[in-house]
Amino acid sequence: MKIEKYQFQQHGDDRGQLVALEENKDFPFSVKRVYYIYDTKEGVHRGFHAHQHLQQILVCVHGSCKILLDNGKEKESVLLNSPSEGILVGNNIWREMYDFSPDAVLLVLASEFYNEEDYIRDYDKFLEFVNRE
Ligand code: TYD
Repeated sequence: MKIEKYQFQQHGDDRGQLVALEENKDFPFSVKRVYYIYDTKEGVHRGFHAHQHLQQILVCVHGSCKILLDNGKEKESVLLNSPSEGILVGNNIWREMYDFSPDAVLLVLASEFYNEEDYIRDYDKFLEFVNRE
């Protein structure tokens, strides 16, 4: 599978850098929720779920981490290590996050409010869900 990567515009000047993200312009959905993951302990793997409807943009705004995406047929992993790079994680994609540097801050822009009913947390159910046609 091909992970959809975004290179966001950096408004740099001699004071430093700034990245601005506008919904439906810099990424293809409206944002209902923002969360961030930080202070992640060594060796931790997170995620292990897919969503039925949710779309997300992931940006490691500080430090680095790796993301494994799986569409039920193919897997691909990507290193996120720049505040000006993001990836789109669509619905029906299994995701795992790992190899967090101690200083990693992973910012997530999400298209929906938190809804546990949208989660698919069982990998076999995920495979059934994506292969249902
Ligand atoms: P969890 O789903 O385990 O995170 P990850 O997918 O990174 O492994 O979420 C951790 C906790 O945070 C869990 O109790 C649910 C809660 N949570 C919210 O309340 N709102 C949110 O938007 C998210 C993503 C999680």
